[in-house]
Amino acid sequence: MIRKQLNESVAYLQSKGFDNPEIGIVLGTGLGKLADQIEDPIEAHYNHIPFFPLATVEFHSGKLIYGTLEGKKAVVMQGRFHLYEGYDFMDITYPIRVMHQLGIKKLFISNAAGAINLDYKEGDLMLIEDHINLQGGSPLAFKGVGQFGDRFTDMSEPYDVPMRQTLSKIAEQEEITLHRGVYVSVVGPQLETKAEYRMLKIIGADAVGMSTVPEVIVANHLNVPIIAVSVITDECNPDNLKPADIQRILKTAEAAEPKMVKLFRELIKTL
Ligand code: HPA
Repeated sequence: MIRKQLNESVAYLQSKGFDNPEIGIVLGTGLGKLADQIEDPIEAHYNHIPFFPLATVEFHSGKLIYGTLEGKKAVVMQGRFHLYEGYDFMDITYPIRVMHQLGIKKLFISNAAGAINLDYKEGDLMLIEDHINLQGGSPLAFKGVGQFGDRFTDMSEPYDVPMRQTLSKIAEQEEITLHRGVYVSVVGPQLETKAEYRMLKIIGADAVGMSTVPEVIVANHLNVPIIAVSVITDECNPDNLKPADIQRILKTAEAAEPKMVKLFRELIKTL
């Protein structure tokens, strides 16, 4: 069933000119501008792609953009789907399956996240080295998962080591602070309580957000190497917790975005 849907989604995109992209990129909240840098872009709105999850109102701008970045063919997701919008695990990872079937060889993921590690400051970047799934489910828990790969997917190293090493070197050369840490995913949309932030620290998280992990699980299942970067948008200090300010979080993400774009572009050059 899902195979047939994927074939239709992919056939539509190929008919629009999405021709064998090498790199897939997921742009997180407040991080949409990389899409403007795609050369010779072809756009497909999520609402027009057969079997893509139906976009909510907030999502009117969601689209896939195909084109060239640093001389490489890329497909960019401007806007992702979240559990907190009412989608299920299958919905939110469907675009990863589509990009895989279009032919991507590497997946770049970005997100906005809160700092659990209080050495991190607003506007810093964190390279995700490992994760903790606190979303209470798996995008691989469905009948027929075996047609896509091993059910019991290995997660001993979910983020590609060579790309991580290269990105760390690039950050050093560019004098961009790039922490390395553990990302924990929660469902949201409510932010965390002080007690929850304390718990997240105890269990080993450095940053918390509401996305990414399901996408990473599916990409691992499909054997697509991943690099993922969090933009730290707020500092979650349980001993001095300020009310969450979503506008400020978005502004911080936007302000830090050029650093993330620089790292991604430089990494693409090395591939
Ligand atoms: N919690 C969860 N998700 C987030 C946060 C947070 O504090 N900041 C940005 N995304």
